[in-house]
Amino acid sequence: MKFEQVKHVGVVGGGIMGGGIAQVIAAAGYRVTIKDISDQIIEETRDGLIEGKWGVKRAVEKGKMGYDTAAQVIKLVDFTTDNIDLKNCDVIIEAVPEKLDLKQAVFKELDALVKPEAIFTSNTSGLVIQEIAEVVTDERKTRFLGMHFSNPVPVMSMCEVVTTPQASTDSIEAIVGIAKASKRAVSMVKDMPGTYGFILNRVFAAAAKEARKIVDDGLASPEDVDKAMITGRNWPAAFFGNRGGIGKEW
Ligand SMILES: NC(=O)c1ccc[n+]([C@@H]2O[C@H](COP(=O)([O-])OP(=O)(O)OC[C@H]3O[C@@H](n4cnc5c(N)ncnc54)[C@H](O)[C@@H]3O)[C@@H](O)[C@H]2O)c1
Repeated sequence: MKFEQVKHVGVVGGGIMGGGIAQVIAAAGYRVTIKDISDQIIEETRDGLIEGKWGVKRAVEKGKMGYDTAAQVIKLVDFTTDNIDLKNCDVIIEAVPEKLDLKQAVFKELDALVKPEAIFTSNTSGLVIQEIAEVVTDERKTRFLGMHFSNPVPVMSMCEVVTTPQASTDSIEAIVGIAKASKRAVSMVKDMPGTYGFILNRVFAAAAKEARKIVDDGLASPEDVDKAMITGRNWPAAFFGNRGGIGKEW
């Protein structure tokens, strides 16, 4: 599957991440099908996409998205509770909860159902991509990558594209192309067995550990650690609850 051939993206899991991912991908002109497990969750996802805090209606009101793009997103995103509706997707982005066995079960079923040339990606925060991909055929492993977005997706432009030794050049180029078309700032990172996290979460975890040690050693208060990072490094979010700007506004 080459970048130019990608027209239809399946997003599996319409929760916090899936809804936002669908929004930015549809804003780039791709048809998107969101699959979740119940009609009620689908309704909540649809509502969030349109009326939610990071939804298209508010994005238009805030001047972050044009009216035409918002209308395009609403038109291009459809919903299902049945995997069969994903069978002709060119790319799958999985965003179900962070459990290896659940992700593997999802991919095993999709591998048997979705066309062989489709590219599979996981939005895992840090599970090893090659371990998630253990359940798919060797052929699909050449089209299996990580695509790690940041929350809230319409606001935070990061996308880590996680590559494995098996991943083909075409699949990497296609996923990078879709991410860039969706206005993501792409960082490339290699999958690494024995670790948890790619760039963002590993660096943040290391810094958070050090922040916790400074507090535990009685050297500074949580407030002063947060204040130092926010005012000294412009970190919008620090460690102990003082979140600066993140998660509040566009
Ligand atoms: N929330 C974040 O800040 C964040 C950031 C980056 C990455 N992630 C990663 O994204 C993934 C999803 O996280 P989230 O916060 O959106 O979780 P969430 O719980 O908000 O959403 C997960 C959705 O998956 C659905 N689901 C469960 N089983 C399913 C199945 N078999 N088929 C289809 N849908 C199914 C659930 O009903 C739910 O709507 C996780 O791997 C997480 O680590 C989360």
